[in-house]
Amino acid sequence: MAPVKVTKICCTLKCPHIRVTIVDLNQARIDAWNSPDYKLPIYEPGLEEVVRQARGRNLFFSTDVDKGIQEADLIFVSVNTPTKKSGVGAGFSADLTYVESATRRIAAVANSSKIVVEKSTVPCRTAESMRTILEANSKPGTRFDILSNPEFLAEGTAISDLLRPDRVLIGSLQTPEGKDACASLSDVYANWVPRDRILTVGLWSSELTKLAANAMLAQRISSVNALSAICEATGANIEEVSHAIGYDSRIGPKFLRASVGFGGSCFQKDILNLVYLSESLHLPQVAAYWRQVVEMNEYQKSRFSKTVVDTLFNTITGKAADTGDTRESAAISLVRDFLSERAYVTIFDPKVEEAQIWQDLSEACPSMTLEAIKKQVTIAPSALDACKQKEAVVIATEWKEFKEINWETVYAQMTKPAFVFDGRLILDAEKLRKIGFTVKVIGRGDRL
Ligand SMILES: NC(=O)c1ccc[n+]([C@@H]2O[C@H](COP(=O)([O-])OP(=O)(O)OC[C@H]3O[C@@H](n4cnc5c(N)ncnc54)[C@H](O)[C@@H]3O)[C@@H](O)[C@H]2O)c1
Repeated sequence: MAPVKVTKICCTLKCPHIRVTIVDLNQARIDAWNSPDYKLPIYEPGLEEVVRQARGRNLFFSTDVDKGIQEADLIFVSVNTPTKKSGVGAGFSADLTYVESATRRIAAVANSSKIVVEKSTVPCRTAESMRTILEANSKPGTRFDILSNPEFLAEGTAISDLLRPDRVLIGSLQTPEGKDACASLSDVYANWVPRDRILTVGLWSSELTKLAANAMLAQRISSVNALSAICEATGANIEEVSHAIGYDSRIGPKFLRASVGFGGSCFQKDILNLVYLSESLHLPQVAAYWRQVVEMNEYQKSRFSKTVVDTLFNTITGKAADTGDTRESAAISLVRDFLSERAYVTIFDPKVEEAQIWQDLSEACPSMTLEAIKKQVTIAPSALDACKQKEAVVIATEWKEFKEINWETVYAQMTKPAFVFDGRLILDAEKLRKIGFTVKVIGRGDRL
């Protein structure tokens, strides 16, 4: 996932006259952004080149939050807003602790007027709470205008999304001051975004649009995944169905690929947020409608792990499977399910650090100690190593390593019969069958 800081990093490329300072309380992250060999804290194609060009010129990284606030005219609040783990709304509503403390800090240290931009994904009307905090705590003579400017980037294509966005959305109060603030931020984007793609709307519409966009995207995935279950049961092929429905110009071809389910931190969190918002507004039918998108995703993940278990002779206890990627929670759910079947799992991920994988697994398997997890899980240095002497390969992500690997060599090194489960529709199943694999593909029925 590409943290939203990437937005401002991209801005430095297009606006050399604007100085951008990224401040974060997390020293390790800032050190990584400043590292001499560009070992950045996140991976995103093209990001390193942008940081190499701009760092030290008009892009700076620091833990001196107060200085950052005092020097800035425009402040983007891009802190994390995870789903609440306890208290009112636990499991659904967004935890706004970090938004609140960042806002309080701005109010406490700002000694001149600021435009505060809400960049984090937040529930509708959060800007109102931020305004209350800022106005109640500001110094005389300082004024704050609040804008909502949600981020629509997608992981993996963040840089191109930001450099050539479908649209930029800016929400403001419809007062003369609010509109002026909105115009100032529009002018920044206008350095590289055509004016007709900069949409200016009311604050609450802007906040709701972000949740709505993610809910609609996730709904498309859940819809196609629901159809993939019907395909498997009937002998239809989800790729043929998606391709054919995508030709309808009212539907369009994008985001119609069946998969093992959506992961990452944004879709689920944002829909749960919408569910909570609907419930708080006493709209239980609306809440139930959106909740079903998340439930279908959970069903798809468990359906896929059940396919693996059923195919491997109803039990995978003691069997060895390999899976890719961990930061994507669909892969983590699969590994958790396999561990509960007491299978041995080898993970390969070309980008996620080992420490992160262990942390994700520990969080997903709270009933197991890390030592117990490590007895069943191995992290492999390459896709080929991950497949050696395994009975099954489970593809949970679209990393190119799985497409480019030499499947003849993989087959030669695997225990027979050798199984491949393609949860992302990235492999040529026919070619693999010719090599000798037994192949199961999501959304494809065996019956012809
Ligand atoms: N990552 C994405 O692709 C994406 C896309 C769209 C929207 N968003 C939204 O953007 C927000 C941030 O996402 P992210 O992925 O960058 O999160 P993140 O967790 O990677 O980064 C948030 C950072 O904020 C820092 N922080 C927390 N409180 C602070 C404070 N008071 N002062 C200074 N720093 C503080 C943390 O140390 C952390 O490094 C979330 O609301 C998310 O929903 C993310």
